[in-house]
Amino acid sequence: QKNCYILGIESSCDDTAAAVINNGKILSNVVATQHIHEEYGGVVPELASRAHQQNIVPVVHQALRKANIDKNQLQAIAFTRGPGLMGSLLVGTSFSKSLALGLGIPLIDVNHMQAHILAHFIEAEGQTAPNFPFLALTISGGHTQIVKVTDYFEMEVIGQTIDDAVGEAFDKSAKILGLPYPGGPLIDKYAKEGNPKRFKFPKPKVGPLDFSFSGLKTSVLYFVEKEVDQNPDFIEENMADICASLQFTIVDYLMDKLKNAVKKTGIKEIAMGGGVSANSGIRTALKDAEKKYGWKTHIPKFEFCTDNAAMIAIVGELKYKNQMFAEQNVAANARMKF
Ligand code: KG4
Ligand code: ZN
Repeated sequence: QKNCYILGIESSCDDTAAAVINNGKILSNVVATQHIHEEYGGVVPELASRAHQQNIVPVVHQALRKANIDKNQLQAIAFTRGPGLMGSLLVGTSFSKSLALGLGIPLIDVNHMQAHILAHFIEAEGQTAPNFPFLALTISGGHTQIVKVTDYFEMEVIGQTIDDAVGEAFDKSAKILGLPYPGGPLIDKYAKEGNPKRFKFPKPKVGPLDFSFSGLKTSVLYFVEKEVDQNPDFIEENMADICASLQFTIVDYLMDKLKNAVKKTGIKEIAMGGGVSANSGIRTALKDAEKKYGWKTHIPKFEFCTDNAAMIAIVGELKYKNQMFAEQNVAANARMKF
């Protein structure tokens, strides 16, 4: 269908987002990031849902305007059903239901984690669609997973974190170093200037495909406290080397897990997604793996890596083609599984 326009809506955490897709191409991709959480050093669920309520109408309006279409041209509404924060999910879910009901068009429920993976199928310059089967590494402030993807909707989680997500490891370590939230991008920035071999941080030992990050954060805390005891300016004087060493440890750990997953499944095609895939260390390591291990790797455009609605819209389109619709009584699911 040439004029198939689908609206995607995302509200699972602290970004209110809307996007319009037409035949695999994104016409608009609007995100309202909530900055109120910065002063708390993490997302405050109650504040997040209130901000979603304020943002959702203007964000959807803007997405339609930028796509240059009228709401009556929409064929379906796709929305994030879960997983995520319940209060946040409820805003997007109830808004989407009312809009679909009002327009008399189908409603499509989307799993946020599947969407991070299927974002690779958006048709955009600078990104290539992976071939099935492939392994997806989804890394963000909320998730750390390795998923075996055999088809669009045939996915199996083969490894995940048993405690914190990798983005939290970056953000919580950054907080210990006195950096503002979210500290991940700042660690990346300082790391570029530092010596990655200067300090040693332990790589947590868990199952070959599992991740654990809570111990890393604790070891950063003890290390810093001990050094600051002797030299109050230790952090300032060594910021670049601390960040470089920490980032080196995390990237190495992620690569170890990917190597284990490739060995176990025999699949050498890797697609990375989630906010942490913006990290320059992991991007370089993954690119290097093409030559080093003969892998084929995919890194989507940054705007499709962090939480966004374009990824919800592409899943909407894939499901629309297969008539995979949701009922009006569909409920948000904070712990939604594949
Ligand atoms: O996908 P995302 O926008 O939201 C969710 O958490 O779902 O990911 C945000 C996370 C934060 O933890 C942030 O610190 C991290 O991604 N992040 C980075 C970088 N850019 C974003 N971590 C390390 N290096 C970066 N360059
Ligand atoms: Zn996400």
